[in-house]
Amino acid sequence: MKHLFVLSLLFFLSVEAFCQQTAQATVNGKDAKTQISRHIYGQFSEHLGRSIYDGFWVPEGSNIPNKGRIRTDIVEALKKIHIPNLRWPGGCFADEYHWRDGIGLRTNRPKMVNTNWGGVVEDNSFGTNEFLDLCGMLNCEPYVSANVGSGTVEEMAKWVEYLNFDGESPMSALRKQNGHSKAYKVSFWGVGNESWGCGGNMTVDFYADQYKRYATYARDYPGAPLKRIASGANSDDYNWTEVAMKKIGTRMWGLSLHYYTVPTGNWGKKGSATNFDEKQYFSTMKNCLHMEELVTKHSAIMDKYDAAKKVALVVDEWGVWTDVEPGTNPGFLYQQNSMRDALIAGTTLNIFQNHADRVKMANLAQTVNVLQSLVLTQKDKMVLTPTYHVFDLYQVHQDATLLPITIQSPDFILDGEHIPAINASASRDSSGVVHISFVNLDATKKIAVSTVLQDVTWKTVQGRIVTSPKFNDYNSFEQSGKIKPTVFTGAKKQGEQLVAELPPLSVVVLTLKK
Ligand code: AHR
Repeated sequence: MKHLFVLSLLFFLSVEAFCQQTAQATVNGKDAKTQISRHIYGQFSEHLGRSIYDGFWVPEGSNIPNKGRIRTDIVEALKKIHIPNLRWPGGCFADEYHWRDGIGLRTNRPKMVNTNWGGVVEDNSFGTNEFLDLCGMLNCEPYVSANVGSGTVEEMAKWVEYLNFDGESPMSALRKQNGHSKAYKVSFWGVGNESWGCGGNMTVDFYADQYKRYATYARDYPGAPLKRIASGANSDDYNWTEVAMKKIGTRMWGLSLHYYTVPTGNWGKKGSATNFDEKQYFSTMKNCLHMEELVTKHSAIMDKYDAAKKVALVVDEWGVWTDVEPGTNPGFLYQQNSMRDALIAGTTLNIFQNHADRVKMANLAQTVNVLQSLVLTQKDKMVLTPTYHVFDLYQVHQDATLLPITIQSPDFILDGEHIPAINASASRDSSGVVHISFVNLDATKKIAVSTVLQDVTWKTVQGRIVTSPKFNDYNSFEQSGKIKPTVFTGAKKQGEQLVAELPPLSVVVLTLKK
């Protein structure tokens, strides 16, 4: 009897070992020459739903801890993950926003209707100075998206003057009158948003000419050179990139690209944020991986016109877009955030990092209470989402040097469809510490990755992991710590190789020290 038990145990273990999935990776320390811009970790907050109002910005006299009406728990959480920049005020809202309505005495500010998002009243209490205060508290760079769709060249020019000019002028006088004597010196400026759609339904030829007008009069004031970002393609509209590069070329610092992962691929019925099966999990990850093709193809077009890679590809809207939470305003785009979101974040950030020679900025849509958020709030409660935890793990890559990585990965297969189960990226920071980020998308299988590190000296390995048994697990207001980073002990040095056993549905960041 005892024999039989031992035999079956041995059989089970050998089947287990036989079925163990493996992947091979090679990190190339010799070809380390590209810096991963920290701006890849940028954020986006629009006047949309509960992102600003009832998100960052609390009502006058609120009991929720705040500084000048800016919610301090959110600020503290975001400071911990070092968000490098914040894009504002839109999105579609930007092309209907007139900045002068949002400065000066609040009681004098006109109200408007937010036609894009729910038809709600916008009281303009959060405007330019409040946004700059928020960026100051977050210690991040502002990225202002200017109105091209319904605004004027003069309006944008004056906004730049208001924010960036230190000398004597009507706009700097106005800024001083509003309590800010020194120029803010904002460098990131978006010239319109989605000009092919909500930003004016323009053709790319028309837009390129408009860009030149707006960009000309948006001046570089002393000590404040602008990084002008042109409104770019929707997803795989390669013609937009082609024409924009041909007509604008290096007159722009960056050209944007927007791509959202829609779980079902159907904008009419996108799928729930938490209530989905493996089939929908698979299609979501497949759609998320499409970012690799988009970035590769848009970059190849940009290479034709800008071989020196002076113009950045700026993916200033990305993330998963699901149906809204039941019972919430459809115009507010409020969605929960599950383990699937963490895998989307890890995978997308790996893609951006591996293309760091061209992708120099990206902005997750949107930081608080909208789409794929870092933070969700309910009255005075705040939840850090699985996406937040991935940004926390990955912050070690900010401004580090990319180490090119190649991977042979087993596939995650469902209903005869295949996607690579493992994706990764690696970098070396300024003190010589190497970090490797691995994502295992497989829903059920753990995968052992053996990594050869060429021209990398290291002795010890430590790790952190974000994982959960189910892809649709999430952090609720009742159970806010269900998914959070923990110590990862599944990696070791075996001879000269790094071997890591990645659990299914996991995002792991390893730290290799000399
Ligand atoms: O992020 C939500 C919306 O998506 C933005 O306002 C717009 O630019 C995009 O279509």
